[in-house]
Amino acid sequence: MAIPKAVKIVEVGPRDGLQNEKNFVPTAIKIDLVNRLAAAGIRNVEAASFVSPKWVPQMADGADVMAGIERRPGTIYSVLTPNMRGFEGALAAKADEIVIFGAASEAFSQKNINCSIAESIERFAPVVKAAKDAGLRIRGSVSCALGCPYQGDVPIESVIDVVQRFSALGCDDIDIADTIGVGTPKRTREIFQAVSDVFPREHLSGHFHDTYGQALANIYAALLEGIEIFHASVAGLGGCPYAKGATGNVATEDVLYLMHGLDIETGIDLAEVVAIGDFISNATGKPNVSRAGKALFAKTRNDAACA
Ligand code: HMG
Ligand code: MG
Repeated sequence: MAIPKAVKIVEVGPRDGLQNEKNFVPTAIKIDLVNRLAAAGIRNVEAASFVSPKWVPQMADGADVMAGIERRPGTIYSVLTPNMRGFEGALAAKADEIVIFGAASEAFSQKNINCSIAESIERFAPVVKAAKDAGLRIRGSVSCALGCPYQGDVPIESVIDVVQRFSALGCDDIDIADTIGVGTPKRTREIFQAVSDVFPREHLSGHFHDTYGQALANIYAALLEGIEIFHASVAGLGGCPYAKGATGNVATEDVLYLMHGLDIETGIDLAEVVAIGDFISNATGKPNVSRAGKALFAKTRNDAACA
């Protein structure tokens, strides 16, 4: 199969990236981050979560973030909604897309959303129905699709099962998420081959964390399977509060460098994203873990010094 000529990048740094920060990131910084990412050409930004602030305190200001951002026409602003309360928040905040998030592992489902996989599907059913009635887009995220911090290996059948349940609920897009970054290119190809038999390939996305340094290789493996949507986090921000030791998502700068090197269109200005990576790393005091981001930032400075 030929690799895609263009891909959609979903920037998840403002949500998946920041949710794990111990120190509260000021709302104004979050707003600036979302605005700058959208201005760089990113057409889908995961901007906030409407989850319990007791569970994820960093996301407690989701309504203020959504109220403060500029809405660029054509840009999708997504938010996480674990239940009807979250959906009501998302609707009031005028989100374009809601994200329901389940797991392919029972143990992770319990730790992350305090219920079994089957209970989570029951809880999501009215959320999806209400979102459909309100004309919102719906994305389903399948956590631990390539491994679980509690259970270890996750059978492909479990991933397919959740994908089918999300599909039956009415999700527009479904994410295959390597929550703890243990996946390998071989496993990635096997999963996308299997899952694209039960859900349209063009609506599947790859959500890779980079804990074992395999994320770019896994993205390339997914490209070989014709996958056209990838999630990434500027400066490689992040981790998961319910997956100890897991690092952030693959860095957006690294994914853009890969895509542009393959002549795959993204519509995104890499230089702008590099500058945003420096901005958010300074704002959070966290090191920028994007290899391409750091190299390009240093080169820009060097070029300026030599000019
Ligand atoms: P629970 O404790 O079982 O439920 O949590 P509850 O209904 O008893 O609620 C507990 C408290 O939270 C109550 O407050 C509720 O009112 C409140 P209290 O009465 O004690 O004062 N509450 C809410 N507040 C605001 N917004 C809401 C909301 N719902 C309840 N929507 C629940 C169940 C699902 C709420 C909880 O487990 C939760 O919020 N979990 C979210 C966990 C989370 O955000 N994890 C990170 C995102 S997933 C992820 O990162 C993976 C992903 O990136 C893909 C990947 O990499 O795998 C997507
Ligand atoms: Mg994630």
